[in-house]
Amino acid sequence: MNDALSNLMHEDRRFPPPAELAASANVTAEAYDRATQDREAFWAEQAERLDWGRKWDRVLDWDNPPFAKWYTGGTINASVNCVDRHVAAGRGDKVAIHWVGEPADDTRDITYAQLQDEVSRAANALTELGVVKGDRVAIYLPMIPEAVVTMLACARLGAPHTVVFGGFSADALASRIVDCGAKVVVTADGGYRRNAPSALKPAVDEAVAKTDGLVEHVLVVRRTGQEVAWNDSVDVWWDDVVARQSSEHTPKLHDSEHPLYVMYTSGTTGKPKGILHTTGGYLVGTSYTHWAVFDLKPDTDVYWCTADIGWVTGHSYLVYGPLANGATQVLYEGTPDSPHKGRWWEIIEKYGVTIFYTAPTAIRTFMKWGDDIPAKYDLSSLRVLGSVGEPINPEAYVWYRSTIGGDRCPVVDTWWQTETGQILISPLPGVTEAKPGSAQVPLPGIAADVVDDDGNSVPDGHGGYLILREPWPAMLRTIWGDDERYKDTYWSRWPGVYFAGDGAKKDEDGDIWVLGRVDDVMNVSGHRLSTTEIESALVSHPKVAEAAVVGAADETTGQAVCAFVILRDSAAGDTSDIVAELRNHVAKEIGAIAKPRQVMVVPELPKTRSGKIMRRLLRDVAENREIGDVTTLADSSVMSLIQSGLSSND
Ligand code: WTA
Repeated sequence: MNDALSNLMHEDRRFPPPAELAASANVTAEAYDRATQDREAFWAEQAERLDWGRKWDRVLDWDNPPFAKWYTGGTINASVNCVDRHVAAGRGDKVAIHWVGEPADDTRDITYAQLQDEVSRAANALTELGVVKGDRVAIYLPMIPEAVVTMLACARLGAPHTVVFGGFSADALASRIVDCGAKVVVTADGGYRRNAPSALKPAVDEAVAKTDGLVEHVLVVRRTGQEVAWNDSVDVWWDDVVARQSSEHTPKLHDSEHPLYVMYTSGTTGKPKGILHTTGGYLVGTSYTHWAVFDLKPDTDVYWCTADIGWVTGHSYLVYGPLANGATQVLYEGTPDSPHKGRWWEIIEKYGVTIFYTAPTAIRTFMKWGDDIPAKYDLSSLRVLGSVGEPINPEAYVWYRSTIGGDRCPVVDTWWQTETGQILISPLPGVTEAKPGSAQVPLPGIAADVVDDDGNSVPDGHGGYLILREPWPAMLRTIWGDDERYKDTYWSRWPGVYFAGDGAKKDEDGDIWVLGRVDDVMNVSGHRLSTTEIESALVSHPKVAEAAVVGAADETTGQAVCAFVILRDSAAGDTSDIVAELRNHVAKEIGAIAKPRQVMVVPELPKTRSGKIMRRLLRDVAENREIGDVTTLADSSVMSLIQSGLSSND
């Protein structure tokens, strides 16, 4: 943690808000005081930005902590707030989505009126397939408009969706479908990745076969035209079912606390957690922060968030926040290097993107590719830049600000989580003097702090654990089907306090620096992966006796998965490429994103006397550092055994 900190803190430059932006900023400094004086009144005021059926009776019901209810008694429809109300207000011709497919010239501009038609058709189609309020729908789609349309159609019906990232394996998809009990899966034949069609349907077929008849229908979008296997009793084409539906759909209002979606995320144990978000509070939290943190001016801005819809950032800051705010935004299907490494900058130039939100791992990749690539494009439309997913190292921050932002755009480093639903800690572009590397200040209405082992607030200049003292509107409500795990995971360390799992430090000014996870969760390219989950995948391979996984520092991806494995005796003398075999095995079990960068075959693992694996020592090996203190090992010679084995492997 100390290395990370000194690396983070070597940049002393400060960047005040641009005067022009500050003069017309959506949020000014007074918001902090107002929110502190009366938190609930502040969040009631923010809820006014939405259209409610019935207004709430209470802003917050915290009578049964840690189970929060926001805007109780209120009724609302998320889909209406994201679509219909903009059309009703005369903004139907406004572009909601500039969709950019990966193949060049494969683009579509979708207005709010068109989005309303498509969402209505999809809602009618899902109804025809038997989906009713409360049913769960799994979505396994590429970054195509149908992904947004399906999410909003589900929200319209009150059928919680669970979007599974397309990079997850059939097994991972199956376990999510089963855990949340989804009866319909929406997918595509495939999507485009690096100039080639990449299949999705085969993984769905494999997953559905593992769900014991739970899945009644698979609705398939034709995107790439590739051959797919077809099961007439389950599979239906989107084009056949959705296209013929009426474009009229009368939405019903749902309770403010009605479930909106479940998003699975890695925890410290092997089983992913289904994070449950509900409707009213989530929509207030995401729309307010999207408007405040990015200083969104819906009439003039063109916003682009590069996150995939399969992650929470795609939910909060691509679908619900921006659309609730009536923004015009870009949705891009492909990778940044297809067909060339300037693709993102070309898109910014073409659409005049003004607000751009991406991840440090992407920024570091662009730095590596060189300044001459963005230099070929006109990026002068940009005015606010955002970062999310992991701590942004000051070098990447300063490069982002100067090379992409022309030294004129403020960078907002936004800290939040799948669980928090909305951004909680971030500078405000018109208020905060920015410090590269620090997320800095809790947003108005948010009570974040850094505490020591005993839960006491640390003084400025000290480090500890990042916590939240008060509930916030878009917070998770529970873990799907597991209230106990919800309490244990987030609320049991200190009474009444939400523990985020991150280490953090307050600097001398009281600004917060998030340092990364303090649990067994890795952050690879901004994606959370559980060490335990990958270890279980490895030991499920017949040749593996034991496995330990650590996240080792990596220049581009932040952390990288490094695995240490002990082989079974039966694998002795095996001359096959065991490393490649195990890497592929993990990809098959969990997904390509979890593939270890390195697999090291070792004779022993370092364990304490109580049998706990000392990952700290393995991290030293993976990061090529001198091995730290080994005195608590049951057998202190193990580390030399591991190292001598590795050097003789070279
Ligand atoms: C990390 C993504 C430092 C953190 C929205 C958190 C960050 C985890 C930042 C959540 C940031 C996210 N600075 N660390 N600006 N943003 N993190 O659930 O460790 O995929 O706990 O949500 O990412 O990851 P998740």
